[in-house]
Order: sequence, then C-alpha cells, then structure tokens
Amino acid sequence: MFNKQTIRDFPSLRGKRVLIRVDFNVPLKDGRVADDTRIRAALPTITYALEQGASVVLMSHLGRPKGVDPAQSLRPVAERLQALLGREVLFAEDCVGAAAEARSRALQPGQVLLLENVRFHKEEEKNDPEFARQLAAHGDVYVNDAFGSAHRAHASVEAVAHFLPAAAGFLMEKEIRFLSKVFTEAERPLVVILGGAKISDKLPVINNLLPLADRLLVGGGMANTFLKAQGYELGDSLVENDVIDQARELLLSSSGKIMLPVDAVVADAFSNDANTQVVTVGQVKPGWRIMDIGPHTVTLFEGALRGAKMVVWNGPMGVFEFPKFAEGTNAIARALADSGAISIVGGGDSAAAIEQSGLADRITHISTGGGASLEFLEGKTLPGVAVLPDK
Ligand code: 3PG
Repeated sequence: MFNKQTIRDFPSLRGKRVLIRVDFNVPLKDGRVADDTRIRAALPTITYALEQGASVVLMSHLGRPKGVDPAQSLRPVAERLQALLGREVLFAEDCVGAAAEARSRALQPGQVLLLENVRFHKEEEKNDPEFARQLAAHGDVYVNDAFGSAHRAHASVEAVAHFLPAAAGFLMEKEIRFLSKVFTEAERPLVVILGGAKISDKLPVINNLLPLADRLLVGGGMANTFLKAQGYELGDSLVENDVIDQARELLLSSSGKIMLPVDAVVADAFSNDANTQVVTVGQVKPGWRIMDIGPHTVTLFEGALRGAKMVVWNGPMGVFEFPKFAEGTNAIARALADSGAISIVGGGDSAAAIEQSGLADRITHISTGGGASLEFLEGKTLPGVAVLPDK
C-alpha cells in the first residue's frame, strides 16, 4: 500500500524547477562510478519531470564525509548520469549558496543540474531547518525519490519537505509498494531468508517478520548465535554472547518455523586463502570458524524455497565477498530465481550477491535501499516517507 502524493499528482510541472532528492550514494573506483544501479533506478522520475516541461535539480549524499572531501564528490556521478540520460548534466560545486542558487534559477526547461554532496555540510545530518530552506530555494516543488535514504531524518530528506509542495518519485513509490506486499498481500507459503554477520542487527526484523512468515531460513554469521543457543561449540566462529538468551527464546517461541544450518564451510583463518573443510555444525574445532553454509544446508533451504509463493531475502549466507565462501549465497540466489515465487530482495549485500550471480532479471524486486529496506521490514516509520503528504 502506498498512499502518498506522487510526482504525477502535481497539477503541472511545465516551466517549474523540480528539486529531486535521489540516492546517488554509489561506489566509486579510480574516480569513476563502479556500480550505477542507483542512478539508473532514478531515471524514470527524472525523465518524467523533463518530459513534463520542467527543469531538474538533483541532490544526494555520497559516503559519510566529515566536511568537504574531494574523494567523495558527486562529480563522477554527473558524468555517468549524463551518459545514461543522453543529455548534458550541469554540476554545482556546492549544494547551497549564491553561486549554486544562481545556477538553479537560470535553468531552462529540459536542463538538469546536480548539486554537490549535501553531506559536505554538517547541517544536513542535523536536519537543520535553515540549511533545508537553502536547499528548498533550488526548486518550485520537491520530490523524494531516495528510498535508500528515507530512513534518515536529514535536511535534504525530511526538513526540506516542509518548505515546498512535496511528493514521492516513482522509485520511492515502487519500493514501498513491493516491500509492503509482505505485510498487506502476503502469499503463502511466505519464506523469509535472513543472513549477514550479526544477529543483533537483525533482531528487530526477526521479531516483526517471524509472526507473518511460514518459514524463516537463517544463514550467515547470525546463524551462529542461534546454534550456540542450541548448545553447539563453534570454535572461533563469530558469536554474539550477549544475545544468546534472546536467540534461545526466539527458537522456543517460533513453533519450529526457524530453520538453521546443519553443516558449514569452516576455515582456519578469515581469508580467501584459508584452508577449508565442510563439517556438520557439531564438528567445528577450536581454531576454525564458520564462513559459509554447507551443501546439506543448501539442499535443505532449496527444499523450503521450492514450494514458496513469496520470499523475502535480506543478508548473505556467508562471507560472500571472498569467492571461496560465496557458494552458499549464490546457491540460494539460484534457488530463489528458480522458485517462481514473488521474490523481494532487501538491498545492500544480498542485492549485490544477486547482481554478482547474474540473476537480477529473475527476481521480482531488488531494493535499492540497504538500511532503509531493513528498517521498513522492521515496521519502522521512515521519516522521508512520513513527511510526504498523503493522497
Ligand atoms: C545507503 O547506502 O544505505 C544509503 O545511501 C544511506 O547511507 P548512510 O547509511 O550513509 O546514511
């Protein structure tokens, strides 16, 4: 369900300056954009505004700079966007101030201006109203299409929306529509797959999704704490001792819905060059650590996915950034693609794993948000969405 005003609801955009918050927080390598997924995801909204006869001012953060940092400039993003749009993208060296404002005020319909990283000003993360007012000076209307940043109550996401007529962009709308299906249109069996290193990061999402799910498959480092709660000795594996009791309670209260690994790929060091073995979860020796789910676990999880009608996945099954320990994650990605279920992948590492395995076009929805999709699945209100007017 999505009940917010969207860019379609503005009566006319002809001759207007549309200030769009996008999430262009993309990886850079050697001064170039290394992955343009988030830039491509924002194109429908940008193109729509241009087709309606507007000019477009784009703003985003990149990285977590402390003050101005040329290594975290959005300039390489302007170049990439220009290539994708097939039209010139102007660039303002600062996101606020007289020079930037003069550039945005001079825009003609059809022109696009990208502002420099909003996080070069500390006021951004403080949700500072005066800074937001200066950002708002760039537009006649404000559109938030930055789903990936919607969980941040920052000036370009939240405070700015108080100064201009505001609406959601198409990406924001699409993300919320898909992610909310889990709560409003769940198809059964609904299988949730959770992975990633730490269980403490995922406890809120487990608590929110476990009552809805028919099965919860757990892999990655976070499974270790559940295994420890069952009494297994796990050698040097990552275990969060302070949440073992919570993990035990979840297992007891979950009516058998939680499926844990039965075997694992273990290594004698945290390295792609480590020696490895496949062992059952009861056989992890001191000096060895769990790095991936094992083949029997893959078969078990594949079986659970086979009959699923809807699947939500967040977090890899092992240390997939090391190719030696990516097999479990890749196998689950394949099983998800083959399942025929409505498949929704939370962003961040699991999205990267899907892209890496070349299966992206067989997944129903891959979120562009990491933290944002997780907080949404936790049931939290996202400030960047809450601030937008209802339909
Ligand atoms: C993300 O990459 O998840 C978003 O762009 C938000 O970035 P942040 O965690 O630095 O706020």
